[in-house]
Formats: sequence, C-alpha cells, structure tokens
Amino acid sequence: MADQLSGPMAGKTVLVTGGTGGIGRATAARLAALGARVGITGRERARAEAAAAQIARETGNPAVDVFVADLSVQPEVRRLAAEVLAAYPRLDVLVNNVGGTWAHRHVTPDGLEHTFALNHLAPFLLTNLLLDRLRASAPSRVVTVSSGAQAMGRIDFDDLQSERRYSGQRAYNASKLANVMFTYELARRLERTGVTANVLHPGVVRTAFAAEDPSRVYKLLTPVARLFMKTPEQGAATSIYLASSPDVEGVSGRYFANRSPKRSSKASYDAQAAARLWQVSAGLVGLGSSRPQRQQQQRKEGENR
Ligand SMILES: NC(=O)c1ccc[n+]([C@@H]2O[C@H](COP(=O)([O-])OP(=O)(O)OC[C@H]3O[C@@H](n4cnc5c(N)ncnc54)[C@H](OP(=O)(O)O)[C@@H]3O)[C@@H](O)[C@H]2O)c1
Repeated sequence: MADQLSGPMAGKTVLVTGGTGGIGRATAARLAALGARVGITGRERARAEAAAAQIARETGNPAVDVFVADLSVQPEVRRLAAEVLAAYPRLDVLVNNVGGTWAHRHVTPDGLEHTFALNHLAPFLLTNLLLDRLRASAPSRVVTVSSGAQAMGRIDFDDLQSERRYSGQRAYNASKLANVMFTYELARRLERTGVTANVLHPGVVRTAFAAEDPSRVYKLLTPVARLFMKTPEQGAATSIYLASSPDVEGVSGRYFANRSPKRSSKASYDAQAAARLWQVSAGLVGLGSSRPQRQQQQRKEGENR
C-alpha cells in the first residue's frame, strides 16, 4: 500500500519500537507521512492498534502495522522478530527507540536487571535477529535512541546486572552508553554491507518517560520546567533525520544530537570494551546458542543447590 503513496520514503519499510507513545510515536507518524510503510510496537494490542489507526488518519497513510511485544522479555523479542520477518519481505530502517528508567532494581522473567535488559539487550537482540533482512534490503539503516546520559555511563563488566549496587540513574546511564558502544561495534561489523548504524540523543522531551516508576524524580518536574522541554515531535527530529535523510546516506558509526554529529563520551570509543560488551550480550541473549547463558547459569545453580 505504501508503494502507492508518494513521498521520499515511499516503497520503504520501517520498524519503530515503542511507536505507541512519546518520541517513538512522533517518529513513526513522520515516517508514515513521508510515505513509508511503518510497523510500530507496543505491549498492548488495543493501545497499539489505536495508535496505528490515529497515525494512519493523521498522515493519510494506511500502511501502519502493529506488532505486540514486551521487549524486556527475550522470548517476546524473538517472537516479534519472527513476526516482522514474516510480515516484511524487506526492512529498510529499524529504529530502536524503546527505553526506560527505574529507581528500584527489578528483574525480568529472564533473570536480568530490567534497565539493562530493556534498554540494551532488547535492541541488541532485535537488531541481530533482523540483520539478515536489513542486509538483504541494503542500503538500509539501524537507528538507536540513546541519551545524553551516555556521557555519565560506565560499563561495569563485573556487575552488569547491578546485583552488588543499584541506582536507577547509574543503570540508565550505563544502558545508554551501551546503546552507543553497541552502535559503534555494529557499524564496524557492517562495514561495506550497505547497512548503516547510528545512535542519537533526542534532547529532553516531554513524554511519559519514567511515568511507570512512581518514585522517579522526574515526577517532581514542575509543569513550568516541562514547558521548556522539547515536544515529542521536536524530540523525534534526529531519529527521523537518521532514518530518512539523504544527507546521512552511507554515514555510519556516529552519534548525533540536534541532527548533527557530535562526540560521545570517551568511554564509548573503547573498541575493545565494545567488542567485549557485544560478546557478553550475545551470551546473555543466547545468540549462537539455543538458550541464554543466564538461564543456563541459573539452571546450573538450581542443580547444585
Ligand atoms: N524523554 C526524554 O527526555 C528522553 C531523553 C533522552 C533519551 N530518551 C530516550 O528516548 C527513548 C524514547 O523515550 P520516550 O521519552 O519517548 O519514552 P516513553 O514516552 O516512556 O515511551 C513510550 C513507548 O515505549 C514503549 N515501551 C515502554 N516499555 C516497553 C516495553 N517493556 N516493551 C515494549 N515497549 C515498551 C511504550 O509502549 P506501550 O506503553 O504501548 O507498551 C511506548 O510506545 C528512550 O530510549 C529514552 O531512553 C528520552
């Protein structure tokens, strides 16, 4: 259907994670307006279908598809990838947008710390599962939404699950640094494939970010402070630019803010650490093996008890 639409993205297929609200929804809506077929993801079918219908109405593009998955749960990420591969014979752009922050430590059904699992391992796994399709659709793009918080991030390989020490801000910063390191390593692995990988800071944006965590300090932000935050549409500008602009054709392995390349933190350029993070992440999501390392480890612990 999108092929019949005009616009610079006509004929392109895009998947935006978290397209039901906030920056992701604004990204999906603009890309649909540009003529792309757009898949959005959310955790609840009714909410996702309502968002898709509204985007289709607003943009006049009926090619807005819904995928349902909780990305903090690895089997759901795998099911989502399988559904996307079945639905889309080509995939031109993947926008890894979903992310969140929690003041208290939570553990996912896979036994992983929630922030690290949702913000880093989910895009890592989803991208890897869709990579052959992106390669086959080249020139294609992977766009990952990080944050300025990456600058304060530190990857503690001895405590990736924050078992020894947890603070919401620390876990968030680390996960957003992981987004940048993942992108740089991905770009290195994708050299000469025609698939680019870039990462961005959207700015401080007025969304439902952190709303699921009742204890978050963000709740204290006064309505006045919120007035100075970007709208979701303004916050989506760099995601949209990286997903669609001819200016960044062939540009890969860069960090952007306000639609311009910027330096990310010194730590993010440590290629050895990025390769290590890739390897550890692959183990934690069970890439290349049938079962994630974490579950294998837990099973072993159970057997030894
Ligand atoms: N807002 C900011 O100021 C800011 C600043 C820097 C970086 N960022 C980054 O920008 C990205 C988008 O943030 P946002 O502010 O737009 O956040 P948001 O408003 O909280 O995003 C909501 C979207 O994320 C989806 N989502 C949340 N948890 C999910 C889960 N477990 N599985 C699947 N989908 C899930 C929601 O889907 P459903 O609720 O429909 O399931 C919804 O589509 C994040 O990566 C964030 O770290 C934001």
